[in-house]
Amino acid sequence: MSTLNKMKAGIIGAGGIADYHINGYMSTGVRVDAIADKDVKRAEEKAEKYGIKKVYSSYTEMLDKTEVELVSVCVPNNLHCEVAIKVLDSGRNVFCEKPPALNAEETMKMASAAKKAGKTLMFDFNNRARPEAQALMEYIKNGDIGQINSAQSLWIRRCGIPGFGGWFTQKALSGGGPVIDLLHMIDLALYFMGFPEPEWVLAGTFDDFSGNPDFKGPWGIPDVKDGIMDVETASHAFIRFKTGQVLFARNSWAEMNEREEVSVTFQGKKAGGMIRRLFGRDGIDDTAIDDCEIYTTEYGKPVNRKIVTEPDEKMGRERAVVNFVRAVAGEEKPYSTPEEAVILMRIIDAIYKSALTGSPVKVV
Ligand SMILES: NC(=O)c1ccc[n+]([C@@H]2O[C@H](COP(=O)([O-])OP(=O)(O)OC[C@H]3O[C@@H](n4cnc5c(N)ncnc54)[C@H](O)[C@@H]3O)[C@@H](O)[C@H]2O)c1
Repeated sequence: MSTLNKMKAGIIGAGGIADYHINGYMSTGVRVDAIADKDVKRAEEKAEKYGIKKVYSSYTEMLDKTEVELVSVCVPNNLHCEVAIKVLDSGRNVFCEKPPALNAEETMKMASAAKKAGKTLMFDFNNRARPEAQALMEYIKNGDIGQINSAQSLWIRRCGIPGFGGWFTQKALSGGGPVIDLLHMIDLALYFMGFPEPEWVLAGTFDDFSGNPDFKGPWGIPDVKDGIMDVETASHAFIRFKTGQVLFARNSWAEMNEREEVSVTFQGKKAGGMIRRLFGRDGIDDTAIDDCEIYTTEYGKPVNRKIVTEPDEKMGRERAVVNFVRAVAGEEKPYSTPEEAVILMRIIDAIYKSALTGSPVKVV
């Protein structure tokens, strides 16, 4: 029996993303032993669907009463820091949903807690786990691209506000709108660029269409009547790194774009490339088209190489969990580190600060 079959996992938060975590664990042979949600009905529904034996309304009770060693943190963003630290302090490994936390300060606290506990802390940057992203990383690691001078990251939705007045649209609970919710492509660009040290950020955010139901996403997250909606709906940011590299980042939930596009394009000293998902309709994965290309020169002619990978409609969401399990078992290098998450969140903090002050911001 492989070591993975002996490991047990627990899930905290039985919402939409939890299914990917459960399926990811199950695909490795890890047993999902327990699930906790303060809305215990939601936990019971998932437990029944997947045959999970232990159900709790309190995650601390789950930690006290079970021997799970792998824990997924799938609660709203404002709880990531508090919950992850409690889990790490109890001697478990943590796979925490994105964003790492509300800001860099919280993320640093989580990284310190993991170090102190001697346990693994990983974040769900699932786009790094996509077959296309890993294929591009092979070229980058092998030196075929050279230093990436510049990159453009986009996660732009036309009608993608995730429910009005719920936790996603309240700054205190989510940390912000599409900048923090759709931070995946900024993260992926940084991953390709080698996580250089950021120096300056200049950004502008907008809140157009904020209360307009025509711009709601198709995920069926219920609206909360008279609920708060105090986050941005679009952001445009320019980031300069100490290395001289630059990144342009565009994120939106509601903007007059042609369609939903999720992409990173980069220009290296030797070659360029891109990874892109175009959605047929906002948020509907099974109509999406995935592309991945390298731009180079051969025999004096520009050459565009299309990299063909196995399709992954789930955008790496299960594969990222598999990587967490294998990283804890020492079978695979982790796709992400807490130090990288801190750099990402320092940039996110600076985007919000620059948008608020209207000035370029030195990244601290
Ligand atoms: N990686 C991705 O592609 C992706 C996609 C969607 C969401 N997410 C992230 O996953 C997290 C959860 O998002 P979701 O869409 O599943 O949200 P959701 O609102 O559907 O689910 C969150 C669940 O957490 C529960 N909860 C709240 N407080 C709790 C507590 N103190 N203890 C236990 N349970 C508690 C809620 O009752 C709810 O069932 C968020 O951080 C979000 O950013 C990631």
